[in-house]
Amino acid sequence: MTRIVLYTGKGGVGKTSIAAATALLCSERGLRTMILSTDIAHSLSDAFEVPLGPEPTELTLNLWGQQPDVYYNIERYWRIIQTYVSDLFSWHGLDEVMAEEMTVLPGMDELGNLLWIADHVDGGDYDVIVVDAAPTGETLRLLSMPEASRWWVERIAPIGKRVSRLGGPILQKVIGIPVPQEEVFLAAERLLGRLDHLHRLLDDPDRTSVRIVLALEKLSIAEAHRSFTYFHLFGYPSDLVIANRVFPADTQGYFGHLREIQQRYLPEVEEEFGPVPVRTVPFFDREMVGFDKLREVGQALFGDDDPSKVYYRGRPYQVQRSNGTYLLTLELPFTSRDEVKLTRHSDELILQVGSWRRTLILPRVLVDAPTRGARMEEQTLKVEFEARARAGRGGKR
Ligand SMILES: Nc1ncnc2c1ncn2[C@@H]1O[C@H](COP(=O)(O)OP(=O)(O)O)[C@@H](O)[C@H]1O
Ligand SMILES: [Mg+2]
Repeated sequence: MTRIVLYTGKGGVGKTSIAAATALLCSERGLRTMILSTDIAHSLSDAFEVPLGPEPTELTLNLWGQQPDVYYNIERYWRIIQTYVSDLFSWHGLDEVMAEEMTVLPGMDELGNLLWIADHVDGGDYDVIVVDAAPTGETLRLLSMPEASRWWVERIAPIGKRVSRLGGPILQKVIGIPVPQEEVFLAAERLLGRLDHLHRLLDDPDRTSVRIVLALEKLSIAEAHRSFTYFHLFGYPSDLVIANRVFPADTQGYFGHLREIQQRYLPEVEEEFGPVPVRTVPFFDREMVGFDKLREVGQALFGDDDPSKVYYRGRPYQVQRSNGTYLLTLELPFTSRDEVKLTRHSDELILQVGSWRRTLILPRVLVDAPTRGARMEEQTLKVEFEARARAGRGGKR
């Protein structure tokens, strides 16, 4: 099974260097490795000091690299949909060039890059895919889109397709807006299908690890907290936190004070992110580019350990039964009870944390069970459901 190891973190913390180092180590230990940049600001090629293109390029034995091209991606997945949306806009009176511009949805380009992961898994040419992802905020937002799209695929797409097949031209006359042709629905369905596939790959703990790179400083740690909460909320398996550019013990003078600050943060970070392990990479006194330097980074981080192994296995949400109630538990680090909003909608439990919203499809046993309440306990959200007597046994329904 192809492993996926994805690195994210604030801009400048060392994602690209660490992703490249991980990939190099994997390849040197005999794994066929793909290093894929999904950050729009590609810098993999600079890290390796080797040119990379939109298609996989062989870098060395067992190692391939790729920096996908935005226009190529759009052509591949969005063209038909975009044409329709652009028709719609220009029908609204928007100038054609403007309409074309408007249809390049924010994030579309990076999402197209992420879709390559699924292609490479399906292609089966690699043992491990290492992803140099975009800074946290972006990646997060994009990663949650597949979950929303599943909803779309299941509910809207089939209706839409039928409507356009039966009544497209008539509807167009009656309601007066261009009704998308069937091919638009097919393209949308294909795209959403791919996103859904990607989502299933990325939330599979046997396959994927999402790793957070941070610097031992306030803002970087704060952003790492947010990502960590998010990964838990959406079930993206997070197995390792990497504190990069840690000043070594013999740091003195000018940087000595910074080292002290870092050393104060380190135990806090270990405590807060635990049980997910935290590893450190020293602040090297040279530019860490090129194969030899990247190997050094990799060695410092992994030593003799396998960079592609799963370093920690958390649990997605769980449902347990205990005297008369069902308890749904979900770890939500760095979250307080008032930040969590819960909405119940038959078989769905909608969890909102800040501006993030996740729809959990409830297991069958909970579909008819009334919700009793929810609380936060030790970084864990606990939602209680009434375990009703089954119809026909207790008599009452
Ligand atoms: N541990 C380290 N020691 C020294 N320099 C580093 C280290 N990690 C990264 N760098 C350097 O810091 C710069 C930014 O790193 P990069 O990996 O491009 O960050 P990001 O991808 O998160 O923006 C690069 O010049 C890189 O060579
Ligand atoms: Mg980078």
